[in-house]
Amino acid sequence: MTDNKITTVELGDGGPQVGVQGLGCMGMSEFYGDTDESAARETLETALAAGVTLFDTADVYGLGANERFLAPFVAAHRDEITLATKFAIERKGDDPHYRGVRNDPAYIRKAVEDSLRRLDTDAIDLYYMHRRDPAVPLAESVGAMAELVRQGKVKQLGLSEVTGAELREAYAVHPIAALQSEWSLFSRDIERSAVPAAVELGVTVVPYSPLGRGFLTGAFTDAAKELSEGDFRQYQPRFTGDNAKKNAALLEPVHKIAAAHGASAAQVALAWVQQRAQVHGLTVVPIPGTRKSSRLLENVAATRLTLTEGELAQLEPIAGQVAGDRYPDMSSTSAARE
Ligand SMILES: NC(=O)c1ccc[n+]([C@@H]2O[C@H](COP(=O)([O-])OP(=O)(O)OC[C@H]3O[C@@H](n4cnc5c(N)ncnc54)[C@H](OP(=O)(O)O)[C@@H]3O)[C@@H](O)[C@H]2O)c1
Repeated sequence: MTDNKITTVELGDGGPQVGVQGLGCMGMSEFYGDTDESAARETLETALAAGVTLFDTADVYGLGANERFLAPFVAAHRDEITLATKFAIERKGDDPHYRGVRNDPAYIRKAVEDSLRRLDTDAIDLYYMHRRDPAVPLAESVGAMAELVRQGKVKQLGLSEVTGAELREAYAVHPIAALQSEWSLFSRDIERSAVPAAVELGVTVVPYSPLGRGFLTGAFTDAAKELSEGDFRQYQPRFTGDNAKKNAALLEPVHKIAAAHGASAAQVALAWVQQRAQVHGLTVVPIPGTRKSSRLLENVAATRLTLTEGELAQLEPIAGQVAGDRYPDMSSTSAARE
């Protein structure tokens, strides 16, 4: 760190310099229980002061509420931050269970206008396709996204939860700056095909849920028993019942390694993801989510923690032993199309 700020890396080929760790803002508006709004706002400022510059949201988080929540922060710091948002997951205010995936150009053209309005900005720095609808040719969707770049509404393009083949196909239409997919000690599907493609193309990988949605920190061991009603993690197969019990036991080496470094389990989990950069030879900018300044500082400090080869070897078998899928319905993930 220089001046107490985390180091920076280039986001995509020729893109802006961003702090080597970003901030996931999703939980500030939905999914992980009630939020103290003023603490969340303070967390945004703490992050920026620490050198975190990539702020991640999506139109779907809180049905637009997360983008609206970020707007004042964006206005106050527009030139200091790299703002990422996403389109493609369609929800309906009057049907809480409805989820659709939309990649058609008309939808994309409307989605970007809605995000720009909610974020109260002229341009989105990094615009991701959140999920892929295989019924729509990728060239059509990425072509529509590229048009937004030409119009100045979007600066760089990203994709989330795509396979290596899809990343290559998209890149042939327009350069893709970032691939955002789940990557953590528990979730390594991305290494099958997407990571090799990202290495080959020079695409930055932005690991989401690097803390396993909090499970890897030891903050909870059974979502059904310990988290508040409606918390999204209660519906994820890994975090309840027998699976949760088995999965919590897998964290023993994480806790041991943390103790040896005088670090927290969260920091070991984040250092492991960060070190994928050297292991695979690519740029990695994880976006852990937190609504608390103290945790933000704990998380950025993990960018200075280096795990030894021996420690990495102890952590290696964990993902292969995890019980339960990443989502209750895996049909829209990259894993379903590999
Ligand atoms: N592209 C996609 O499909 C996709 C999917 C999911 C998420 N995302 C993005 O990725 C971001 C991060 O993922 P995520 O929020 O799902 O999961 P995560 O970063 O793995 O974990 C977040 C959870 O961990 C807790 N936490 C954070 N730091 C901690 C620490 N040091 N000690 C203990 N607990 C800690 C947070 O609670 P507090 O907030 O209470 O601190 C929160 O409950 C999201 O915000 C979102 O922007 C993208």
